[in-house]
Amino acid sequence: MKKKAYLAILTALTLGASLFTGCGSSAASSAPASAATSQVVASGSKSMKVGLIQLTEHPSLDEIRTAVVSQLEEKAPEYGLSVEIDYQNGQNDPSTINTICQQFVADKVDLIVAIATPAAQAAVAAASPDIPVIFSAVTDPVTAGLVEDLNAPSHNVTGTSDAIPVDAIFELAKELTPDAKNFGLLYCTSEDNSASVLRDARAYLEANGCTYEEGAVAAIGDVQTAVATMVNKVDAIFVPIDNTIAMAMPAVAEIANKAGVPVYVSADTMVYDGGLAAVGINYTNLGKQTAEMALKVLSGTSANELAVETLTDKQITVNPDTAKALGVDVQRYVK
Ligand code: TRP
Repeated sequence: MKKKAYLAILTALTLGASLFTGCGSSAASSAPASAATSQVVASGSKSMKVGLIQLTEHPSLDEIRTAVVSQLEEKAPEYGLSVEIDYQNGQNDPSTINTICQQFVADKVDLIVAIATPAAQAAVAAASPDIPVIFSAVTDPVTAGLVEDLNAPSHNVTGTSDAIPVDAIFELAKELTPDAKNFGLLYCTSEDNSASVLRDARAYLEANGCTYEEGAVAAIGDVQTAVATMVNKVDAIFVPIDNTIAMAMPAVAEIANKAGVPVYVSADTMVYDGGLAAVGINYTNLGKQTAEMALKVLSGTSANELAVETLTDKQITVNPDTAKALGVDVQRYVK
C-alpha cells in the first residue's frame, strides 16, 4: 500500500490543537465490504438494531464506516447495550438507496446511521420522525435540508458534519503554487454537500483577484471528459467534498498530473489517490463521534437534544509523489 509515503500534519488552524499525527488514519483504504452484511458487534443487556447505510464505496466513506462499526462495537457495553448492525451500501444509486432505507423502516430498526449527504437525505425521507437518524460526514446539514439549525435539531435527526474552511485550501494553494490564478471547479451537480463549499470557493476567488471555470458533471461517467477539457483552460483544479469526484479521483489525478495541473482537494483520501494537497478533517475521528451520538440516542437521549457536531481540528495532507511530478515544493509539510 502506498499510503506510508504520505504524511499528514495536524496544524493549529483552530485554537489549541497542534498535535502531530503521522500518515493519516490507518483505516483509510479498508477493503470494500459487500452489501448486506449483518453482524452482531457487541453483547450487553439491551439489544438494539442499527441500520447502517453508506452512500457508495470510496476510501473516505469506507474509513468512516470502519470507525463507526468499531466504535459501536467497543462502546456499546459501556451503554449497557448490545448492537446488531445491518450494513447496506447504496452503490451511489438513488433507487437502491431509497429501497434500503424503506427496508430499514419495514424491519423496524431502532436507529439509522447514514454516511454521506444523499444517503442521509433518503434516510430522513423514509424514517423521520419515527426512527432516529444519525447522519455522518454531511458537509452542510442545513443546505441538505436535514436540520434547520445545527444547534437545535428536530424531527429526530442529528449527526456529524465534515464542514471545512474552504479559504484555508486556497491559502495553501497560494502558498504552494502562487502563479495559479484561474481555477477549475470540479463537482457533481446533484450533491448538496458540494454546493455550499462551492459558494464559499467562488466568493473567495472573486475576493482575491482570481478567476474560475465551472466543471460541473451530472454523473461519474462524465468526469474524465470534464477534466480533460478543464486542464487546457485552468492553472489549477479545486475539488470540494464531492462523492462522485472522490470515486473518480485516481483518474482525475492521472489526467491532471500528466497535464501539469495541480489538484487541490478537501479530503486526505483524495490526496492519497493522487491529488496534490488538502486541508481536511480526520474521518476516523468523525466516524467515532458519529457512533457515540448513536449510542447516546439508543440509550434514551432524544436526537433533538444533541446538537450537530462539527470537527474543529483540520489537517494539511500533501502527496510528495504528485508534488515531485508537478515540480512543486511541499517539503515543509513532509517530515
Ligand atoms: N461530506 C460528504 C457528504 O456530505 C461525504 C464525504 C466524506 C466525502 N468524506 C468524503 C466526499 C471525502 C468526498 C471525499 O456527502
